Formats: sequence, structure tokens, C-alpha cells
Amino acid sequence: MGAQEKVLIVSDDATLAEDFRSKVAAEFPQNQVIESSEVRREIVRLKPDIVLLHEPKEGTSIQLLPYISKEVPDALTIFMTERRDPIRTRDVNRAGAFDILFLPDEIHALDDVLTQAVKALKSKSAQEAAAATFSWAQGQVVTFYSGKGGSGRSLIASTLAQTIGLDSNASVLLVDLNLQYGGLETILKIDSSRNIFDLDPVLNELNDNHIRSVTAVEASSQIEVLPSPRNAEIAEQITEDHVQRLLRTARLYYDYILVDLPTEMTTLSYTVLEESDYIFYVMIPNMLSMSVFRTVLDLFSKLGIDPNDRLQMVLNRISRDTEISHKDVNRHFLFPVIANLRDDSKKIQQLINQGNLVRNSRKERGISFFARDVQKLAGWLLKQQNSQTV
Ligand SMILES: Nc1ncnc2c1ncn2[C@@H]1O[C@H](COP(=O)(O)OP(=O)(O)OP(=O)(O)O)[C@@H](O)[C@H]1O
Ligand SMILES: [Mg+2]
Repeated sequence: MGAQEKVLIVSDDATLAEDFRSKVAAEFPQNQVIESSEVRREIVRLKPDIVLLHEPKEGTSIQLLPYISKEVPDALTIFMTERRDPIRTRDVNRAGAFDILFLPDEIHALDDVLTQAVKALKSKSAQEAAAATFSWAQGQVVTFYSGKGGSGRSLIASTLAQTIGLDSNASVLLVDLNLQYGGLETILKIDSSRNIFDLDPVLNELNDNHIRSVTAVEASSQIEVLPSPRNAEIAEQITEDHVQRLLRTARLYYDYILVDLPTEMTTLSYTVLEESDYIFYVMIPNMLSMSVFRTVLDLFSKLGIDPNDRLQMVLNRISRDTEISHKDVNRHFLFPVIANLRDDSKKIQQLINQGNLVRNSRKERGISFFARDVQKLAGWLLKQQNSQTV
């Protein structure tokens, strides 16, 4: 009698996939083959116990590991690759793989590894150990979006990144995807000519060293910033693949990946929104912004971007003259309002004009009202993470 465990074979090579299937079929009658592009759509439905993840020759499957562990946390993944590279092996382990097999020679060890996996699934302590490994690679992608320009995305994203960097132990990567004009480099006084497109030659084997080689560190908060190329020609060459691989790899190494998106809906923005754990919709509460937000929600629905459970509203530039209250916003939209950031024009303008940052050190005195409100927002975000891991 065969084993009860469900085995899912993920491979883009039909011949090899059949070969793997024939190797496991006798012992594991419940088996199935899918391609790597189907993982995101199918993994929850198939709910495998063991995943044989075969990496295509051109391309990388490491980024799928965090997905699999997030969607089916009890499953054990055996990573099969033709590339023997110590850094990649380390990454595969960090990303929570149960084991790694180097093809073609180690295929004969598949039976052994499967037996061990079945044992591990059966023993509770092994499961706990696996769960501990899986808690790696759970970096959260938080995207700042708005259908209306000038609503404060860049200022909020950069201040939140600094606040997390200063007030917690979490690591932060802040990414500026306003590829033509940028913005974050001015707010954070960053001078760097490296950008996301410099990752192009290493995209298939992307790791933390590559990412660090293109980021700049903001000195006071130690956050890493990936600035915009601020160049239309380079911007045109950046594809969804660059963005998707960057985000998926970054999840392995950073606790929070904050992304500042432009207002236009492009395939890049779509990709980022789809990858996001949180979509912080930034809005200055007035009639026009509410109507734009409705249009954005229509567009999300047409494009198949599901905002439920992950879109939060961040209200900005709140003052005595604010047209529409938090309560009014709540009446019109079902999404939670998680922040009311006060308008502090005088102070913020003064800081930026004098070449200062919004935040400069831990426990800093006399920070702006705005920065204090962002501290509360950081508290909200950090609390979500804690409640997820408990
Ligand atoms: N709460 C606030 N108090 C004071 N000034 C603010 C506040 N929020 C944003 N601003 C100012 O409003 C302007 C627009 O903010 P920011 O550039 O962050 O918006 P954005 O949404 O990124 O805009 P863009 O569409 O140009 O990318 C900036 O000058 C910023 O300093
Ligand atoms: Mg901006």
C-alpha cells in the first residue's frame, strides 16, 4: 500500500516531470504535476504534503519557496536544481526548503529524501522545527498607492521606513518605483546612481548581496533605499520580471519592503499590487479624492486585484479645515482607516528646505506632529506582524 501523503511535482520540463512522477508514483499514488507559473493559483487548492520543486535551467524558483510556505505551511518542499552554487544553496535553506537535490546525479537520493520527509511530517517536533525555519522568508510587502498625485505617498513611505528602522529591530528596504521622476532621494537626501535596472544581469540568481549592491543606506535609520533611476529610457526597460524577482527575493532578507508607487496603473504597478501584503491607500480626505478612490476600486476590480483584507486607508494632511472626517470616509468605504496623519506644512517644509530629514534619531525630541502620527502607523504595522507569528 502506498503512502497517504500528497506529492506535488512542480516543473516546466514535461519530460523530466514525467520522469519524477514515474519515480514517486508507486510509493505516492496521490501525485500531480504542475508548471511553476501555476503554483500561485493552484497551491492552496491542491494542498500538497510534499512539494518537489524543480528549478528550470533558465530562471529561478527560490522565490516560490516563501509562497509555498505561506500558503501551505505544513508542506515540506524538496528543491531540485542543476545549479551548484553555495550562496544559492544557503538561500534555498533560508527560504525554508526541507532539502535540496542537485541534478542529475542526486536524483537517486530522491527515495531517501522522500522517506525522511514522510517521517518529518509524522513527527510533531520535526514539524515544529520546520515551522521555525518557515518563519524566515516572511518579509512583508507594503505598497503606497493613490490614484491622485501629491497625496503624500513618498513622504509617508520614507518617514514610515525611517520610523521602523529607528524604533524597532526590523530590517527595511524602501523601493522607489516612480521610475521617471523619483522623489525619495530628495526627501531622504540620498545620492546614488545605482538602480533596479543594474540588477538585470543577475536577475536569474538574485540574492541579498546583489540587492545590497544597488541600495543606499540612509545613515540615521540604517534603512536601505533602492532609488529611482530617474531616467525615462531606463524606466522603459524595467519589466514586471525585474520587479517581481526583486520583491520575492527581498522577502527572504528584509522584514519590511516598502514600495512607493506612481499613480499610473501600469503592468509594473499591477505586479507590485498583486505581490503586496498591505496596500496603503493614501488619501487627503476631500470629495475629489473620494471620487478618484472609487475609480481606482473599479479599476482594481476590472484588473482582478483583490483589495479585501489588504487595503488600508491612510488619511493624510488632516487639519481643522479638512473637508471630510474619518467617520465620513468610513461611511463610504468598507476599508479600515488605519492612520490620520496631521498636516504639518510649516515644519515639514522647513525641514526639507533646510536639507534635514523628517526623522534623525531614536527617541528624538520635538519631532513634527506628522512624524508622531507616523509612529502610530508603524506601531500598527509592527503589531500585525507580531500577531501573525504568535
Ligand atoms: N502631512 C503632511 N504635512 C505637511 N506636508 C505634507 C504632508 N503630507 C505631504 N506633504 C507635502 O505634500 C507634498 C506632496 O507629498 P509627496 O511628494 O509625499 O506626495 P506623493 O503622493 O508622493 O506625490 P507624487 O504624486 O508627486 O509622487 C510634499 O511637498 C510633502 O512634503
Ligand atoms: Mg511621490
